[in-house]
Amino acid sequence: MSKEKIVLSVGDPDVEAPDYVYEAAYEKMKEGGEWTHYGFQTDKPKVFRDAVVDYYKRFGGVTYPDSAVIPCAGSSAALYVALRTILDPGDEILMFEPTYRGHFSILNGLGVKQNLVQLERENAYHPDLDEIAEKITPKTKAVLVCNPNNPTGTVFTEKELRAIGDLAVDHDLGIYSDEIYLHFVYDDNKFVSTASLSEEYAKRTINIMSFSKTFSMTGWRLGYIIVPEMYAAKAKGIAGMAAPRPPTFLYAAGAAALNGDFKYVDERVKAYDERRKYFCPAVDAIDGLTCDLFEGSFYAWFDAKSTGMGSQEFCDKLAKEENLMFSPGHTFGPGQDGMVRVPLCQPMPLLKEGIARLERFMKNL
Ligand SMILES: Cc1ncc(COP(=O)(O)O)c(C=O)c1O
Repeated sequence: MSKEKIVLSVGDPDVEAPDYVYEAAYEKMKEGGEWTHYGFQTDKPKVFRDAVVDYYKRFGGVTYPDSAVIPCAGSSAALYVALRTILDPGDEILMFEPTYRGHFSILNGLGVKQNLVQLERENAYHPDLDEIAEKITPKTKAVLVCNPNNPTGTVFTEKELRAIGDLAVDHDLGIYSDEIYLHFVYDDNKFVSTASLSEEYAKRTINIMSFSKTFSMTGWRLGYIIVPEMYAAKAKGIAGMAAPRPPTFLYAAGAAALNGDFKYVDERVKAYDERRKYFCPAVDAIDGLTCDLFEGSFYAWFDAKSTGMGSQEFCDKLAKEENLMFSPGHTFGPGQDGMVRVPLCQPMPLLKEGIARLERFMKNL
């Protein structure tokens, strides 16, 4: 096969971080001193934490003290700290399926059972609110919402978040809100932060945040959690000992990103919106595949069950015959075999070539 490989399997943006973020990192690295040594006893993390407080007030609608912000080397580390803070082996967590595979792997590693509420295509990948309460058991300690969701793009509505929040209050559950795609919402959909809806929710909500997608900084490894008072001491202990912290000079880079004008982010949203409007209908138009326009994040999520192949077989065959890489859907939840995920993290000409190859692949089956 002589075709060049097209990788559409990783949620890694195809552009670089904004220039002002690079400049802040270079400048502080060159300055050295406290910027290139252990940061924890200096005021450097505070520069970052203060920027997060302003940012979250602006985009999440909640004002936190800067002490609530715990920086981590990417939101994967942040997620580990957050999950470990509330959950012990044998505990249970309420979650929505499909969801980001990293949630499953950390929870499996911690020995936490996942009680899954389905996000079904028939319901536009939104939850059935009656089903949520049924999934809570005496062992359930927390609920996790990925909003907007990877891979379905679901942007949870205020009504849904209130239903989840009320159950969390009634059953004394922690709430995890993975909001790393909060800027990527389209059409009339609106991101609402769970913590902004009530003091009671905010008191028990840990926000998981990242620079990876918003500022195309996947390799920089910069993320954080915002932790309410009742979990703060434990979370700080775990973050300090068991999870990697960011390099000290990246605190300045992160602050530069959050204090910027967000024109960069607006442009990214426009680019993903254009890609989504092209790619999803193009997949849907192929005989045997169904793909809906997603509400948020940047993933196309399509159903290939009519081919009779499982997700892995479909993706392996596509890679072998067309040199085109997609992510098999079964890794996003135990009930997702036959589904396929495509991060729209390549420019339009490559997406168009991807569609041409997918069409040919389906015709030749
Ligand atoms: C929902 C969600 N949370 C967290 C992460 C982890 O991102 P990172 O560790 O790069 O911040 C990802 C990555 O794809 C994701 O999709």
